[in-house]
Amino acid sequence: MKKNKINAILKKKNKTPIVCLTAYTASIAKIVDKHCDIILVGDSLGMVLYGMKDTRKVNIEDMIRHAKIVKKNTKKSLVVVDMPYNSYTNKLKAYKNARRLIHTTKCDAVKLEGGKKISGIIKFLVKKKIPVMGHIGLLPQYVSKFTLQGKNKNQKKNILEDAKTISKSGVFAIVIECVVESLAKKITKSIPVPTIGIGASKYCDGQILVVNDILGLSDFFPKFVKKYSNLKKIIDKSVKNYANDVKLKKFPTNKNVYR
Ligand code: KIV
Repeated sequence: MKKNKINAILKKKNKTPIVCLTAYTASIAKIVDKHCDIILVGDSLGMVLYGMKDTRKVNIEDMIRHAKIVKKNTKKSLVVVDMPYNSYTNKLKAYKNARRLIHTTKCDAVKLEGGKKISGIIKFLVKKKIPVMGHIGLLPQYVSKFTLQGKNKNQKKNILEDAKTISKSGVFAIVIECVVESLAKKITKSIPVPTIGIGASKYCDGQILVVNDILGLSDFFPKFVKKYSNLKKIIDKSVKNYANDVKLKKFPTNKNVYR
């Protein structure tokens, strides 16, 4: 089953754009599952759900809690769970944590941030039959500032090498975050596995965004985000109307009481 889903994603390269979004809760997972190929239970949940300043304080227990719920409420999408910061610093630690994540949540794959430096770890996990998604370019677990990657020749060369190396290590897809368009295009052409862009242009094989960002629930909107709703405004209006109704004794009405 897991293998079939991954093969279906691989087959989409150069054919059909791969649609991905994050999800962290049951209600959102059910909706996202209807329209996406891949759901990522991202460690962005640290900021999105828990108001942390970055993803570094997110731990395995946090990821298990949300990945379990998302997977349970998903019927068709491939569900990928992020390995949190510090959980894959060496091969054995990575294997122990990845195996726990996959076994307890029943998710289909894990995602790790990094290129050449972690290629040995990725290779080890893949050899142990743990499907791995890569993540290169901007690595939120390792930077505190949001900056465009691949601007100069040296950075471009490094990130392209990262992509080629982890592709050879066995990842089934690579998230490319916040890089210049020409580099994303080159990487996509140079590797056999799909590239999933987040701020990495239309030349990637697929796209991913943080679900709260497209819904307009976040405070920070980088250039690469497109807001499809303004839920913050909608929620604010609903809460304000509810509060007014309670104060004016307009709620509950006859419709809302048991007699
Ligand atoms: O944690 C996350 O949500 C991610 C995406 C931004 C790709 O890694």
